[in-house]
Amino acid sequence: MDIREQIIQCLAEAAGMEASEVDAALEVPPSADMGDYAFPCFRLAKTWRKAPPLIAQELAEQIGLPACVERAEAVKGYLNFYVSRTELARACLEPVLEAGERYGSGNEGQGKTICIDYSSINIAKRFHIGHLSTTVLGNALYRIHEFRGYKCVGINHLGDWGTQFGKMIAAYKHWGDKETVEREGVDAMTALYVRFHEEAEKDPSLEDEGRRWFKAIEENDPEAMEIFNWFKEVTLKDAMRVYDMLGIRFDSYAGESFYNDKMDRVIDELKAKGLLTESDGAQVVDLSAWDMPPCLILKQDGATLYATRDLAAALYRKDTYDFARSLYVVAYQQSLHFRQVFKVLELMGYDWAKDCEHVAFGMVSYEGQTLSTRKGYVVYLDELLQRAVEKADTIIAEKTPDLENREEVARQVGIGSVVFSTVLNNRIKDIDFWWDRALSFDGETAPYVQYTHARCCSLLRRAEEAGVPEGGIDYSLLTDDDAIAVLKALSAFPDAVSQAQVRCEPYLVTRAVLAVTSAFNHYYIDHRVIDEDPEVTHARVALTRAVRQVLKTGLYLIGVEAPERM
Ligand code: ARG
Repeated sequence: MDIREQIIQCLAEAAGMEASEVDAALEVPPSADMGDYAFPCFRLAKTWRKAPPLIAQELAEQIGLPACVERAEAVKGYLNFYVSRTELARACLEPVLEAGERYGSGNEGQGKTICIDYSSINIAKRFHIGHLSTTVLGNALYRIHEFRGYKCVGINHLGDWGTQFGKMIAAYKHWGDKETVEREGVDAMTALYVRFHEEAEKDPSLEDEGRRWFKAIEENDPEAMEIFNWFKEVTLKDAMRVYDMLGIRFDSYAGESFYNDKMDRVIDELKAKGLLTESDGAQVVDLSAWDMPPCLILKQDGATLYATRDLAAALYRKDTYDFARSLYVVAYQQSLHFRQVFKVLELMGYDWAKDCEHVAFGMVSYEGQTLSTRKGYVVYLDELLQRAVEKADTIIAEKTPDLENREEVARQVGIGSVVFSTVLNNRIKDIDFWWDRALSFDGETAPYVQYTHARCCSLLRRAEEAGVPEGGIDYSLLTDDDAIAVLKALSAFPDAVSQAQVRCEPYLVTRAVLAVTSAFNHYYIDHRVIDEDPEVTHARVALTRAVRQVLKTGLYLIGVEAPERM
């Protein structure tokens, strides 16, 4: 039983409360001189008919303390518990060393599947930093859920449907050639699209041509499909480069067009359930009772919409994966869309609509400038990552010019710095990306954590060479304030991972990792790990090993690599 549980048990006995009640009330005081745990007695005042300070006093006298608690003191309305530091050190460190790579994992997801819709890029558009957050957050959520025992299905819901693809094919037929598209990829497609609009100003019949090609796609015409599928392939090949750099993969690329033959079911069901109404010739679901504009299902010409496809996708995902939770990692601008879709699912009678969740996030700007495709101000993700790697390489060249596999480390640090800044704060907060902030070695950055991890690795290598004694660790050697601070940061990690999963907030892991990093760096100022006294070395090496483990796991969970030498 861990220390907290032991305290809960003795409190439950002394106060005649349920353990779960005590658990909910037991606090960790803001500063260590107020004890390691504190029980507020205010809630007992009513039943005990006594003032809280008196209750605290009585409890202090009656309570039978477990061995791990040195003393309990009544202070105002609180009963403060002071844990034996040696026992505290043991209780914090042992679980990390025992669990190793599994420290912070959980099994609450056992037997449950979770769908995560993320990245979900658009075909024929280049991957720009507007899609950075969804990609990075989704990947982190994938890893965090997996670590807590869930079976994850990562879905890249490709934006591969829309009239623009008809126009693109028309343009390709007029002015395109295979080599250029193969060579320039998405850029060539964008150029064709721009050209289409320029030419269509002069010759409006082009619009009809575009519509005809789109109809051809809808009707599965072989020629149209061949070009369209090839556009998709070329776009995905570009995107794959980015995914590879980030170490990201998906279990499904079923995008909007995948649902072409799965929409009749949605429409039939909506009709049968009396949910469809006509509005200006279009078919909609009226949501005015929930203060929302109607959800558009069919356009006047019978064409389906983004929402129709998301309804079909939700049904498909439920049928195929039987998810316990289905996440949509999409910018907050689409929050109305998702509220509408989830409401329609609920109105269709699917009680699992409550398991669908829009995991929204804020905007990304770049060195103070808001991105805008319209104004031509875009930052492409592959270029951003490439530059990050180059900049990291320059910094490493200055700091450690003769580092082995410098190229590899520059890649890990550069890309890590971009990823890290994306999951540094809560999702909804806008991100402004600045190079010097992301790449600094002593701020809240990837290099700062990575460097600390590498330092741990190097200490452990040296300890191994020196030879570490066998046998048990003397935990009383890890009881000074600095060591206790490191230990407490380590023991907060599992709960941070669990909360990150529940709230879909990977930054909670980032913060926990930063807390361990700064506590360890502080410890390191006054404590040499390799000491003259082998017992001291033994204990400190164990602490270092635990720190390295938590940093490595934490970085992995947010999608950052951890080099062993830097
Ligand atoms: N492709 C869309 C965009 O870039 C995001 C799709 C999100 N997923 C979904 N199921 N609607 O804005």
